[in-house]
Amino acid sequence: MLLDTIKMEISTNPENISIIRLTASGIANKIGFSIDDIEDIKVAISEACTNVIKHTKVDNFSIVFEIYDEKFIIIISDDGIGCTKESIPKVDLCNPKVGGLGIYIIKTLMDDVEIKSVKEKGTVIKMIKFLGVDN
Ligand SMILES: Nc1ncnc2c1ncn2[C@@H]1O[C@H](COP(=O)(O)OP(=O)(O)O)[C@@H](O)[C@H]1O
Ligand SMILES: [Mg+2]
Repeated sequence: MLLDTIKMEISTNPENISIIRLTASGIANKIGFSIDDIEDIKVAISEACTNVIKHTKVDNFSIVFEIYDEKFIIIISDDGIGCTKESIPKVDLCNPKVGGLGIYIIKTLMDDVEIKSVKEKGTVIKMIKFLGVDN
């Protein structure tokens, strides 16, 4: 059941990532996530926000936090250059490279991740963490 929605519109100043992380951890703590889950959520959100800052030239982007009784959904949207599926690298852990791990890390840490991106229009990444799911 959706209990509440919190929306943030924030500038692409790298210093704002700590504000977003703090907000997310406060919400996740209130929902009842463990310290480990909260750390995972913070890392995933940081990677997604870093991508907006690093790969787009937008001035602002938005984050929506949807608070459910049994899950936490985070939606990060930008109106930047977008990307194609092909530009998201396939990670080969046997042949690690520097960089190109952000999306892989997000998918590893979160329970469900959807990326919708349209070239020259922007990107939306939706990530879900369920309460009480071990991974
Ligand atoms: N918000 C975004 N806007 C445009 N392209 C993006 C965005 N997020 C990710 N990408 C694309 O997906 C690729 C993979 O992202 P990621 O796995 O975080 O690796 P890295 O950021 O190190 O390149 C990026 O190189 C970029 O081309
Ligand atoms: Mg990245």
